[in-house]
Amino acid sequence: MKQLYFPEPFRIKSVEPLKMLTREEREEKIAAANYNVFALASQDVYIDLLTDSGTGAMSSAQWAGVMVGDESYAGADCYYKVQSSAKEIFGLPYIQLVHQGRAAEKVLLPVLLAGKKYAISNMHFDTTRAHVELAGARAIDCVVPQALDTTAYYDFKGNMDCARLEQYIAELGAENIGVIIMTITNNSAGGQPVSVENIRKTRAIAHKHGIKFMIDAARYAENAYFVKLREPEFKESSIADIVKATFEDADCFTMSSKKDAIVNMGGLIGCRDKALFELVKQRTISFEGFITYGGMSGRDIEALAQGLREGIDENYLRYRIGQMQYLAGRLDEAGIPYQSPVGGHAVFVDAKKLLPHIPYYEFPAQALAIELYREAGIRACDIGSYMLGNDPDTGKQLEADFEFTRLAIPRRVYTQSHLDVIADALINIKERASKIKGFCIVEEPPILRHFTAKLRPLD
Ligand code: F0G
Repeated sequence: MKQLYFPEPFRIKSVEPLKMLTREEREEKIAAANYNVFALASQDVYIDLLTDSGTGAMSSAQWAGVMVGDESYAGADCYYKVQSSAKEIFGLPYIQLVHQGRAAEKVLLPVLLAGKKYAISNMHFDTTRAHVELAGARAIDCVVPQALDTTAYYDFKGNMDCARLEQYIAELGAENIGVIIMTITNNSAGGQPVSVENIRKTRAIAHKHGIKFMIDAARYAENAYFVKLREPEFKESSIADIVKATFEDADCFTMSSKKDAIVNMGGLIGCRDKALFELVKQRTISFEGFITYGGMSGRDIEALAQGLREGIDENYLRYRIGQMQYLAGRLDEAGIPYQSPVGGHAVFVDAKKLLPHIPYYEFPAQALAIELYREAGIRACDIGSYMLGNDPDTGKQLEADFEFTRLAIPRRVYTQSHLDVIADALINIKERASKIKGFCIVEEPPILRHFTAKLRPLD
């Protein structure tokens, strides 16, 4: 019997029709959007791979939860339910709701970085980097060198380079480093997993030097699934036990609930220390809302309490990671380069290799994203020099380690046929790759520019 990669552990109850534009219409739409995919109307997109964040399909149990969500300002029933789910899953004693991941960063990072100069991470996601910089510190990335070679197999390309981390601490001074952040999975390196062994080692280094250890937990469940597949110690463990091992002795975590907790909006902060939690609560009240709702509606909190549990279901995770493996398999057959082995939430196509004639300052990954829209109405995004932006000190364009066009797959949303459309579009583009041109920026804001910048195709 043919092996099924990812049998869906669900059936479809409700569908959302999609519009299909002609190539001419798509050309007009992308020009009107100034070649910025964030400026496209979603109704003009056929397959939306911009992000896996907040775009998942909720289950019938979650939708049922929406109807019973308690909208009380203080002490709502759903608050106690989410506290119970989160404490049980993560094992940290203090949990704060916020409205999304960057809100968690805004609340927590200035506390950790007060009077400090640096944050070090396996890789900062762009909003995390922005909040480190807004707190007056510098964000340093310290991923293992294996991550930089997109063709070489390595089980845990998301890992922290612990030897380099020790060097940074010696060079910069432990007293100047506010926090060491482990991002799981490592989104910017390609949704790549981090081993529990590496998490333990990094945490031990942080604590040896009296530095706080934080987890950016957006994709904690996908990370745990890879650990089960690839880390011998956890071969027989349940996903729930691997998640517990992951968070053991972490001082705190931030989490965007919009990913692995499969809700459209939400975030969490976890703290081990009561004093830290008191500061978090005060800042939450100022920026997000009263502590029992933290910027969320009761109905969304109810869906989150349920989604946290669904996100760690092993059958669901097998299907979820299986979708990435299927798409990656089709790209392998066609010789299309991507960050390999494929990660947890997306296929990261290596635009540097597919479009080697476009230099980083003409944004090859952005050029490929635009081409995917032209070809098949697929919306992907650049995770490369275009997203990285300019050096905050010199204002010069930075060169990213990778030029990825990210095909982020929303959870429980697209079918295998959709995945085939994506693969076929990339195969067509590969055939005319040498004719594809780069872009220049004609207008950009100073921070997180990729969301709103305007671009122009080069001749
Ligand atoms: N940390 C990581 C690792 C993320 O991937 C994200 C968001 C955040 C923090 C911020 O969370 O969006 O809820 O404020 N990543 C999305 C993405 C936007 O498309 O990768 P948020």
